[in-house]
Amino acid sequence: MTHRKVAELLAAAPTSQTVTVKGWVRTFRSNRFIALNDGSTIHNVQVVVDFEQTPEAVLKRVTTGACLAVTGKLVASVGSGQAVEIQAESVAILGDSDPEKFPLQPKKHSLEFLREKAHLRPRTNTFGAILRVRHALSFAIHQYFNDRGFYNLHTPIITASDAEGAGQMFRVTTLDPVNPPRTEAGAVDYREDFFGRSTNLTVSGQLEGELGALALGLIYTFGPTFRAENSNTPRHLAEFWMIEPEMAFYDIHDNMDLAEDFVKTVIRYALDRCADDLAFLHKRLEEEEKTKPQAERALPLLEKLQFVVDNAFERLTYTEAIDILLKSKPHKEKKFQFPVEWGIDLQSEHERYLVEKHFKKPVILTGYPKDIKAFYMKQNPDGKTVAAMDVLFPGIGEIIGGSQREDDYDKLRTRMAEMHVPEDGLWWYLETRQFGTCPHAGFGLGFERLVQFVTGMGNIRDVIPFPRTPKNAEF
Ligand code: 4AD
Ligand code: MG
Repeated sequence: MTHRKVAELLAAAPTSQTVTVKGWVRTFRSNRFIALNDGSTIHNVQVVVDFEQTPEAVLKRVTTGACLAVTGKLVASVGSGQAVEIQAESVAILGDSDPEKFPLQPKKHSLEFLREKAHLRPRTNTFGAILRVRHALSFAIHQYFNDRGFYNLHTPIITASDAEGAGQMFRVTTLDPVNPPRTEAGAVDYREDFFGRSTNLTVSGQLEGELGALALGLIYTFGPTFRAENSNTPRHLAEFWMIEPEMAFYDIHDNMDLAEDFVKTVIRYALDRCADDLAFLHKRLEEEEKTKPQAERALPLLEKLQFVVDNAFERLTYTEAIDILLKSKPHKEKKFQFPVEWGIDLQSEHERYLVEKHFKKPVILTGYPKDIKAFYMKQNPDGKTVAAMDVLFPGIGEIIGGSQREDDYDKLRTRMAEMHVPEDGLWWYLETRQFGTCPHAGFGLGFERLVQFVTGMGNIRDVIPFPRTPKNAEF
């Protein structure tokens, strides 16, 4: 490979060395200045063409969106805005782009419009920045766990169990949808299906993750998860990526300490490594916020990220949180849409009040009522609550959900029966509580919610390359 990355050239000394770059035209001004981007950085390299030397036929094909290979001298730029530029000696067109038809004109497009063009939107500044930050966070996550002796466990994507017990699963089948085999009673006979049973796409790798932790000590998963919930919110995807560490010998407090250190560390990594992209996203958000009244404006992006990294998260129990909500102004003035009382599943408006208005920082809530949480959570001695923890972030709400696990065989079985979780599909899970059970804990971080937080994007559909949401699987 003889061509160089734009990122590399922009940092190089302009010694008139001959270089080749390849990339896509962002703009072409005055038949002379090409802004070329190759995805290695948010910045473009300026290519100066000599229109007397460059054939007219080639110049005509230098249009926004076209793909070029340029060879020329890297020299100090006389114009402002860049330190170096390339004086082109040859311009080759690798791929034409019809300027009449290319959807990404050099102007501001709405995010909604760009969602319809998800095949091309990575070529915009905004999506280029988001995708680079997304990569950096993913890398930082693997590094974080690797540095601390966690093993990456690859849990299955196709499963017969419903880890969260919420029944929001996509079925996986090879049966003929028009004429499936039937049981004598007339139901679809999944014994005839590919796996000889009914299977789904996983909603979480946790249950298998626990099997790993009870052998390897510290594990984490990082994989796609699928939820068939009909939620058209800016925080839900039908296919999202989740990171699920699971730790033997951790209790709920160790779990909270790890979760807090983990998110802070990966955000710090992004601040260090993605300075240019975050500076761009910071400005982008600032422009967007200007359209809102002063009182509703969020903290500028970089300040917000620094604040989260520098300050301890607030830790309190669900019961304490309900007391705060009951005493709150919006509750007294009946401004909450959903009622507040002990036992409710906190709504986004409640979580946001706690995080954004009351504490003004990330919050970790523990000790949730057992009836609103999954069957596997450790039951507290009070008989009413479980050792659950949710980490709530400003602008996002729940970013992490986790718990200490019920490690007592009898208590787990009783809880499964109470919650109508069938034992036969989970015999292997129950056996871990019979053969060398131990206290253990873990959590799940929604990767896209983290990327949303770090990039300041308001809609989760804009932080994954190809979002899957109800009625939407185009690309
Ligand atoms: O709270 P959840 O449902 O927890 C679990 O799945 C546990 N098994 C995790 C564990 O203890 N190992 O999901 C975890 C996180 C949420 O906090 C949220 O950030 C994200 O996953 N999440 C979603 N993100 C995008 N779209 C959705 N539909 C999501 N549902 C959950
Ligand atoms: Mg949750």
